[in-house]
Amino acid sequence: MSSDQLQKVFKTLADSTRVRILRLLEREELAVNELMDVLSMTQSRVSRHLGILREAGLLRDRREGTFVHYRFVPPTDGPWGDAWRLATRALEDDAEARADAVALEAVIAARAVKSRTFFDEVGPEWDGLRKVFGDDMLRARAITRLVPPHLRVVDVGTGTGALARDLLHAGLTVVAVDHSRRMLDAARANLEADGADPDRIELRQGDAAALPLVDGEVGGAFAHMVLQYLASPADAIREMARVVAPGGAVVIVDFVAHDRTWMRDELGVLWLGFPPDEIRGQLEASGLVDVRIEVQPPAARNADLPETLVASARVPEPNA
Ligand SMILES: C[S@@+](CC[C@H](N)C(=O)[O-])C[C@H]1O[C@@H](n2cnc3c(N)ncnc32)[C@H](O)[C@@H]1O
Repeated sequence: MSSDQLQKVFKTLADSTRVRILRLLEREELAVNELMDVLSMTQSRVSRHLGILREAGLLRDRREGTFVHYRFVPPTDGPWGDAWRLATRALEDDAEARADAVALEAVIAARAVKSRTFFDEVGPEWDGLRKVFGDDMLRARAITRLVPPHLRVVDVGTGTGALARDLLHAGLTVVAVDHSRRMLDAARANLEADGADPDRIELRQGDAAALPLVDGEVGGAFAHMVLQYLASPADAIREMARVVAPGGAVVIVDFVAHDRTWMRDELGVLWLGFPPDEIRGQLEASGLVDVRIEVQPPAARNADLPETLVASARVPEPNA
C-alpha cells in the first residue's frame, strides 16, 4: 500500500461524523433527509460528508425520483477493510453510536407508520389500486413455484388436453391418457399449438380401467370430468391409486348426482353425476387416505348446470 493510500484512509475516517454516517449506512440504506434526522445536522453538513465518502469510493447510491439513497457495504479486505474493522471494534461501546442506533430505529419506525397509515386510509379501495401490482396470472405463476420440480402426473381421460395444458403451465410433467385415438390427436394438436415442451408431455392411448402405467410411476393422478363416462368408475379410482407413488395425490373432478337426463343423449355420459359419499367410499376402498371432498355450486353464467365435486386423497406412505 502506498503512503498516499494510507493517508486517504486515515483522513477519511479521522472525522467522527463520517464514521457515524458509515455505521448508519452499513445498517440501513438512508436518504439525506433521514440521515439529517438521525444525526440532527443540517443538509449542507450531511451532504459535504457524503461527498467525501463518495469520493473515497465507499458509498453506493440509488436514485429514486428526487431522492438519493445511500448505502455502505464495508470492504472485507485491503486497507479499508482493516481500518473499518478497527473503527467498528473501537466504537462497540460508544455512547454516541448507541444513541445513533436508537435514532435510526425511530427513522425506520416512521417509514413503517407511513406505509401503515396509507393502508389504513385506503382499506377496501385497495382492490381498485392493486391491479398496478400484478394480475391473476402472476399469482398463479407464483403458486406454481410450490410444485416440486420434475413432478410427473397422469391426466386420465385427457380429451382435448385442456387440463394437461394447465398442468404443464403449472410446471408439471404430464402423461396424458385417453382411450380415444381421435381425442389424443386433438390433444396433441392443441398442446403443440400451445408451445408445450415435448420433454414434459407424453400421450398414451389406454383405458382408465387398466392404465398404461406401472405401479407408482407418477406423483399424482387427475381425472377431470371423466368418471361420468366410465363403465366402472370404481375400477378407474383403483387404477389411479395404483399408479401414484406413496405420498402422491389422486384428484377427481366430476358432477354431483343430478337429474339432467339430457346429458345422456347430448353429452354421452353414462352416469348422471355421483353422490360425494360414494366417491369418498371408493377412494377409501382403494386404500387412499386424507380424503377431502368439496362441493362447488355452478358458476353464475352456467346456473342450470349441476354442482361439481372436487375430491382428493393421498396414497399412504408405507410406514405412516
Ligand atoms: C368429457 S371428456 C373430458 C376431457 C378432459 N379431462 C377435460 O376436462 O377437458 C372425457 C374424456 O374421457 C375419455 N374416456 C372416456 N372413457 C374412457 C376410458 N374408459 N378410458 C380412457 N379415457 C376415456 C374420452 O375419450 C374423453 O376424451
